Amino acid sequence: MSNRPLQIAPSVLPADYARLGEECAALEEAGVDRIQWDVMDGVFVPNLTFGPDVIAAIRPHVSVPFEAHLMVVEPDRLLDRYVEAGCGIVIVHAEACPHLHRTLAHIADLGATPGVALNPHTPADVVGHVLDLLGMVLVMTVNPGFGGQAYIPAMESKVSEVAAMIGERPIDLEVDGGIGPDTVAGATAAGANVLVSGSALYRDPEGLGHAVADLRTRAEAARS
Ligand code: DX5
Repeated sequence: MSNRPLQIAPSVLPADYARLGEECAALEEAGVDRIQWDVMDGVFVPNLTFGPDVIAAIRPHVSVPFEAHLMVVEPDRLLDRYVEAGCGIVIVHAEACPHLHRTLAHIADLGATPGVALNPHTPADVVGHVLDLLGMVLVMTVNPGFGGQAYIPAMESKVSEVAAMIGERPIDLEVDGGIGPDTVAGATAAGANVLVSGSALYRDPEGLGHAVADLRTRAEAARS
């Protein structure tokens, strides 16, 4: 169980892109702690999404921190652009970084918090020798590329493994994929403190405010 502050980090993947600024303002109004931008290059994952200019356009209109989840090949070529666009946290995939130690140091040199994401097949010990460079580990609970996929419960054992590796270090443990009312307790109890949710927030019939509060309540209950 993590004692780090619980953070709700919505993915804007399901948002209405014709009103993206208003959608991000609505998320802030709904009480989220940060916003996650799912950046996809059509190569590392089949989908293609947000460039840095889109994020930079939204940045001045929202005050919560932004994190860039870079589901891209060769992320080193893009790091500075997403930091300049206003992302204070930059997450790269271990599977896309042959020189992960250097890439994470590069993110820190740019003044952002380095994060690493692990696809479902990637073992936890991949982060073993870079923990002291990290501000966050993201354990994917779906295969990256699309929202609305089914949560993979088997990832909870990996969350617990990563939590044990983190120990008392000041490192957040994030989960992403299929996080909603029925899955948040398991992920939180396993050790996650940052919860990325997209489709579950947007499909709540009572609206974003209710969805965010409900997710937070369920997560807090799972930690008590
Ligand atoms: C996958 C994406 C999704 C998204 C959240 O590449 O990273 O996990 O953020 O999707 P939902 O919450 O709809 O499963």
